[in-house]
Amino acid sequence: MKAGHMKITHLAYNLSSPEDAEALKDHLERFYGLRYLSTRDRRGLLTLDMTDGTFALALTHYRPDAPQKEATAAGQPPLIHHIGFDVDNFEQRSNDVIKSGLELFSAPGQVPIKFRAPGGTVAEFAPTPFFGKRANLKTPLPIKHIALRLPSRKAAVEASQYYIDVWGLRSDEVRENEGRYTHDLSDGNISFAVTYHPDDCDGPPRIHHIGFEVEDFEERCRKIQDTGVKLQTTRGKVPFRYIAPGGTAIEIVPAPYFSKRI
Ligand SMILES: [Fe+2]
Repeated sequence: MKAGHMKITHLAYNLSSPEDAEALKDHLERFYGLRYLSTRDRRGLLTLDMTDGTFALALTHYRPDAPQKEATAAGQPPLIHHIGFDVDNFEQRSNDVIKSGLELFSAPGQVPIKFRAPGGTVAEFAPTPFFGKRANLKTPLPIKHIALRLPSRKAAVEASQYYIDVWGLRSDEVRENEGRYTHDLSDGNISFAVTYHPDDCDGPPRIHHIGFEVEDFEERCRKIQDTGVKLQTTRGKVPFRYIAPGGTAIEIVPAPYFSKRI
């Protein structure tokens, strides 16, 4: 089934503690201008809701009484747990996903419907504007990039095709070099990269990092490095990637690095 235009409107974390969720919230507010919306505590999940103007960001800590199958679906925290789509034809899509035999993490009747997508990362969907209504605040720096890191080239190829065919993402460039595979996709708002790197293929399939595009690249990298974060790339190189407070990766690039792919 071809989907037409479909937007990724949700990104959810699984963080190791409430303090880590708070630390990531503070970092996203301070360096990227993201907005804090509210705190929810239900089903054993503590969630700080934020937005960048496009995404409903959920900084979640799964407590010991959270549903364990869902809590561990993406591996052990800290990690980016899932992405989410707002859809217009929710009933049809629900039937399609249930019939497809993909592994489900939500209870029957629960909305959003959470499942393991081909390639192995977790995704969910809900009827429009489930996520979008939390994301209508303008912020200075919207998230421009999400990257999946999958454990094989085959998984990356299959996952890319799935997001194109089923979720209507637009296929842009496929880049292959020294065994690395990157397929650039876009939903019109963000650059969505499905990647495989032979020197980083241990562990479960991951939503590897988010990315921001900035006008003051050198200055911002310096200020962030001054806070003592662990770097994943060499300072001065593009992209600049580091482990943010709470333990997940953020990437920064000078404009229009990601915009060109959107
Ligand atoms: Fe979610």
